Order: sequence, then structure tokens, then C-alpha cells
Amino acid sequence: MLRLAIQKSGRLSDDSLNLIRECGISFISSSLKLKTECTNFPLEILFLRDDDIPGYVADGVADIGIVGENVLVEEGKQELTVEKLGFSKCRLSLAVPKSAEYNSVQDLNGKNIATSYPNLLQAYLQEQGVKANIHTISGSVEIAPSIGLAEAICDIVSSGSTLISNGLKEVERVFKSEAALIATKELSEEKREILEKLLFRIHAVQRARK
Ligand code: PRP
Ligand code: ZN
Ligand code: MG
Repeated sequence: MLRLAIQKSGRLSDDSLNLIRECGISFISSSLKLKTECTNFPLEILFLRDDDIPGYVADGVADIGIVGENVLVEEGKQELTVEKLGFSKCRLSLAVPKSAEYNSVQDLNGKNIATSYPNLLQAYLQEQGVKANIHTISGSVEIAPSIGLAEAICDIVSSGSTLISNGLKEVERVFKSEAALIATKELSEEKREILEKLLFRIHAVQRARK
């Protein structure tokens, strides 16, 4: 049996479950159960926080996972990637209050920026030659400017509606992301064969979607 980790609730959850279902794999899911065995394929699904997925797969607690490249690269685990999946596309962007004057990324010199992605942000700022103070918070980042925690934020943007609802405007794109399938380094021969079968089905679904 192969163990797959997916996001419990969030942007990737529905897309991940839909992919598994479209592969013809059946399972019973309830929002309270954090682990389920598929009924017609040797797969067990774990429902986890997305941020925890690369670590679990790296440690082999889960054999494979579906996670955003944003989380994967932030945690320095991109070497676990098997392939990109083409869904849950989004970007990591810098945003400032709608009313703020903004001309270029240099305006962020000496400013406070709130984010859940300190590594991706730091790499970008360094490349741009900007020195700012990064405040790492784990969620509700978009609230930071309105409560005086920071002058800018760096967070995931998909439709852009969270930014608009919080009076922010996107000013720079830091990183482009989509869902990726990841796998642990030491898979047994048996599990590797199950993964090959799963990949075969995933590719068929992807072809049918085009
Ligand atoms: C991201 C981000 C916003 C939202 C933006 O969260 O933190 O909350 O998506 O989407 P929108 O542009 O369509 O409004 P994500 O789903 O990545 O989950 P997490 O930060 O809770 O892990
Ligand atoms: Zn998260
Ligand atoms: Mg969020």
C-alpha cells in the first residue's frame, strides 16, 4: 500500500481529491477523518497541513504527496519533485496598501514585510538588492498592514480577491507556483510499482483534460 499525503483543507484540497477520483480511485472521505484507505487501489490517503507535507515525505512517513511548489521550495525540498501537476496555479507576490505610493521594489528598503515565506522572499529581495525587515507569521498575512505590523506583505495570490478584500494591491511577483507530485527518496520496489501505476493513470487524466 502506498501512502499519499494531501492538503486537509485549502486551495489544493479539492483539486488533489478530484485528480485521485478522476484516476478511477475510490475512497470514502469525511471532513473529520484524517486517514482513509482507497477501496479499489493500494493507496492510503493522509489529510495534513500543506506546510507539513514536504517534511513527512522527506522522512518517509508518507511515500508521496501533492503540495504547492511554493511550500516545497520555501522548505528547500524541491529535490523530492516527481513532476508538476498543472493545477492549483498561483503566485507569491508582494502587496502594499492600495493608497500607498509605490514606484519600484527599491521603495521597500528599510520597510517591514509580513510573510509566511521568509526564504523565498529573502532570496528575491537579495537578488533585487533590497534590505527589508521580514516578519514571519503563519497565516492571515493580509491583515498585517491594517494593524500596523508591516508596510507590505508577501503572500500567495490566486484570484486576487483576498488582496482586494483587505485593501491591498499587488506590486511585484516573487515566485510562480503550481501543484507538484513529490516522493520520498527510498521507495521499496513494491511501492515504486504502485507509483508507476498511479502515474500512468495521472497522465491519462491529464491527456483527457487537454
Ligand atoms: C492563500 C493566501 C490567501 C489566498 C489567496 O492561502 O494565503 O489566503 O490563498 O487566494 P485568492 O487570491 O484567490 O484570494 P493558501 O490557500 O495557500 O493556504 P494557507 O496559506 O492557509 O496554507
Ligand atoms: Zn499553509
Ligand atoms: Mg493563506
